[in-house]
Amino acid sequence: MDNFTFWSPTFFSFGKDSESQAGELVKRFGGSKVLVHFGGKSAKNSGLLDRVEKSLKEAGVDFVELGGVKPNPRSGLVYEGIELCKKENVDFILAVGGGSVIDSSKAIAAGALYEGDFWDFYDGKPVEKALPVGTVLTIAAAGSEGSGDSVITKEEGMLKRGTGSNALRPKFSILNPALTQTLPPYQTAAGISDIMAHLYERYLTNTKEVEVTDRMIEALLLTMKHEGPRVIADPDNYEARANIMWAGMMAHNNSCGVGRSQDWSSHNIEHELSALYDCAHGAGLAVTMPAVFKYVMNHDVMRFAKVAVRVWGCQMDFDHPEVTALEGIEAFRSFLISLGMPKNFEELGAKEEDIPKLVETLCRVNGNNGCIYGFTTLNEEDCTKIYQMMV
Ligand code: NZQ
Ligand code: ZN
Repeated sequence: MDNFTFWSPTFFSFGKDSESQAGELVKRFGGSKVLVHFGGKSAKNSGLLDRVEKSLKEAGVDFVELGGVKPNPRSGLVYEGIELCKKENVDFILAVGGGSVIDSSKAIAAGALYEGDFWDFYDGKPVEKALPVGTVLTIAAAGSEGSGDSVITKEEGMLKRGTGSNALRPKFSILNPALTQTLPPYQTAAGISDIMAHLYERYLTNTKEVEVTDRMIEALLLTMKHEGPRVIADPDNYEARANIMWAGMMAHNNSCGVGRSQDWSSHNIEHELSALYDCAHGAGLAVTMPAVFKYVMNHDVMRFAKVAVRVWGCQMDFDHPEVTALEGIEAFRSFLISLGMPKNFEELGAKEEDIPKLVETLCRVNGNNGCIYGFTTLNEEDCTKIYQMMV
């Protein structure tokens, strides 16, 4: 296991009606003037926004609103949010929504305390300070409620990039699984796919002797394998939604990723798809992961065979571990398809003729020395082959 430091200071309030604590929690974490940031229409339609604002009023906390965050959140609204925070002397940001709303909130939080262009942080400058952020989560997926990460798309060139800093970890996150019952099935499934991707991207490590985190990841993958079909069959199943919601947090606050190298190739390859086609991130990952895994599996075939046996119930073929590894990848792919996720470029809305463009942005604009690094090093030729495998 590698040396590590781990700081995960978020306070969690989990369970039914927990959103009624929003006002009290904002106050507890020092907020007196809040920006309530939200998405398109779901939080308004469900009455959640009204309940959260009522709780702020009851706690005597003043607030301004900024809605309109789109999935794969854009820089335009971030600039607007930063201006609003400065004009209104906002000292706390409350995200009411999914990963997109939370990531947009984090970007505004960093930009509000910075004189330059907030995009500098998505260009590699470390975030050292940010306004405090709290979240009321409405979809189990990105794990942004417990992570220090934020992913934003710059409209100019549709560049989708992330930044990460402990300064961006939420002060508190309110997780009420019942709020996710209004999700369309496709979004529920995309969330499941993303959560499992966060687990797989950590499982694919080159660090030896990491049994504790291997076993934690396997346990969470098994939970998703059990609860995913239950929630798709019965969207009102509170207990299944509760298990998925907490698994989504644990999959990405990095408790399963400490002390080990991680992959993130699938995420990098997918981000080009959601940037260009505006598809759901988890749906893009469902198409990307099986292709990446098949392409890189011989780098450490026993690791793929291990997850195949321990999670997907495959029989270990000691003479041909690559057969077991491949069976595990196919089982995972079939699982995602059974939840309603797309299986290829066409179903995702992607186009084969765009592959050179996808590869150029992935490797030359967003990559390092023309490559992406993780479990293996992938150059332009590798990435081209991987995208072709998804067609
Ligand atoms: O805008 P509204 O109307 O709220 O609709 C949203 C949106 O259309 C809807 N939705 C959310 N909660 C709902 C609901 N509809 C009905 N009922 C509810 N309770 O669902 C749609 C998707 O929401 P979004 O926030 O985009 O989903 P998600 O949480 O999957 O976030 C995706 C973004 O997170 C980034 C992705 O790249 C993508 O931009 N990621 C962020 C990470 C992080 N910060 O740590 C890590 C991830 O790997 C990921 O890259
Ligand atoms: Zn993700």
